[in-house]
Amino acid sequence: MNARFDPSGPLKGAVAPPADKSISHRAALFGAMASEPVRIRNYLDAEDTNSTLAAVRELGAIVELRADELLIRGCGLRNAQPPGRTIDVGNAGTLMRLLPGWLSFQQGSSFVLDGDESIRRRPVDRIADPLRLMGARIDAREGRFPPFTVHGARLAGVEYELPVASAQVKSCVLIAGMTTERTAVIEPVASRDHTERLLLRAGAPLERSRDRHGLHRTTVGNADELELELVEVPGDLSSAAFLIAAGVLVPRSRLLIEGVGVNWTRAGFLRILERMGAIVVGEVEPDGHFSAAEPVADLDIRSGPLEGTVVEPDEVPLAIDELPLVALMGCFAEGETIVRGAGELRVKESDRIATVVGGLRGLGADIEATDDGFAVRGTGGLRGGRIEAHGDHRLALLGAVAGLASREGVEVVGMEAASVSYPGFADDLARLG
Ligand code: S3P
Repeated sequence: MNARFDPSGPLKGAVAPPADKSISHRAALFGAMASEPVRIRNYLDAEDTNSTLAAVRELGAIVELRADELLIRGCGLRNAQPPGRTIDVGNAGTLMRLLPGWLSFQQGSSFVLDGDESIRRRPVDRIADPLRLMGARIDAREGRFPPFTVHGARLAGVEYELPVASAQVKSCVLIAGMTTERTAVIEPVASRDHTERLLLRAGAPLERSRDRHGLHRTTVGNADELELELVEVPGDLSSAAFLIAAGVLVPRSRLLIEGVGVNWTRAGFLRILERMGAIVVGEVEPDGHFSAAEPVADLDIRSGPLEGTVVEPDEVPLAIDELPLVALMGCFAEGETIVRGAGELRVKESDRIATVVGGLRGLGADIEATDDGFAVRGTGGLRGGRIEAHGDHRLALLGAVAGLASREGVEVVGMEAASVSYPGFADDLARLG
C-alpha cells in the first residue's frame, strides 16, 4: 500500500501514543510463565505483539481479551507445552530473542521458531551462543538464522559478557538464568531494562550493580515461580517519537503527547533532541535511576529551529529505535549531525543504516552512511519524493513524518508496515493536522 503525506499546516492538540511494544511483549511472556493469572492493561494491539499472544497460546497459556484488559492464565515457569508445529514469530525480533530464553529450560521438549522474510535475515547466534553455554541445544539454518530449534535442557549458570549492548540478548539470558543457581549478564553500556523491572516485580531474585570499570552487571538466580498481578503498559516512547519529531519539524506546531513511558534507558531520544535545541517539556526519569516501576509523563512539544549534534556509542542503546528520526531531524538542523557506534542498526527489521541513508537521500537529504552510523549535513529542509519502507515499520513512519515537514510531500511505498507497532498513525495525524 502506498500512502502520500503532504506538507502539513501546524499540528495541534493532545494525543496518546500506542502502548509500549517492548513492555507488552514482556508482559505477555511473563504472564505465560507465571503461576497465577496476570492482568495486563493497555496491551499493545499491533501485529508484533499479537504474534506474542499467538505464541504463548500455542505454548499452553490461555489469553482472555476482556473489555478493558487482557488476562493471561499462564503455564508456569517450567511447563510450556510443545505445540507440535512451528511457532510463527511474524516480524517480531523481540519475541524471537526472548522466547528461546524460556524454551531453553523446558527439559526434554523441543520447539521450532520461524518468522517472516525480515526475521529470516536476522541472526540468532547472539542468543544461541549464551544459551548453548548454559547447556541448551540450538539448531539454526546455516548455524545462525531462523528457522531454528530450541531443545530444552537443564541449564547451568553462566557469567556472560555481552559483545554488544542488547536488551533482547540480555533479557534472553536473564530469563534462562531463572532456573540456574546464579547467572550474571555484563553489559558494556546500559540498554533498556524493562525485563529487569518486571522480573523484580514478579519476585525473581534479581540484583543489579555497576562495577569499578563502569560495566553494568545484572544477576539472577533460581526462581520457583513468577507472580505478577497487574501490569499497566505505558505509552511507547519509540512510537511517540514520530509524533514528537512531527511536532518539532512542522512549523507552528504544539502537541501534548500523553502517558508516555519515560524510563531513562529508553529516553535517549529526548536528550538528543534537547541538545539539538528542540523544546520538549516533561519529567523524564533521571539517568541511572533504578526502580521496579515504569515512569510515565505527558510531553509538551513545540516546533522550533534545530542544531546538529553528535550521538556517541554510549548513547546508542538508549535511543536505538529512534536513530532514523535523528537522521531526519539532522536534515532540518543547522550544521552536521553524526551518529557513531550504531552498527546494530544493520540487523534491525531492515539494515537501517542502508535503508535510512538511501531513503532520505532519495528525498533530497545530504547524508552519508558510515560502517556504524551516518553523517547528515543539515540544509534547513527536505525536498520530498518517494521512499520505500522495505517492510520496516519505522521506515514507513519515518517517511510519513518526512512528508509532513517536506516542501513537496512524500509518497511512502509499503505504508502497511506501520501496523507492526503503530496501526493508527495516519488517523492520529489526521486528528492533529
Ligand atoms: C528491544 C530492544 C532493542 C530494540 C528493539 C526492541 C526490546 O533491540 O531495537 O526494537 O524490546 O528489548 P536490541 O536490544 O537487540 O538492540
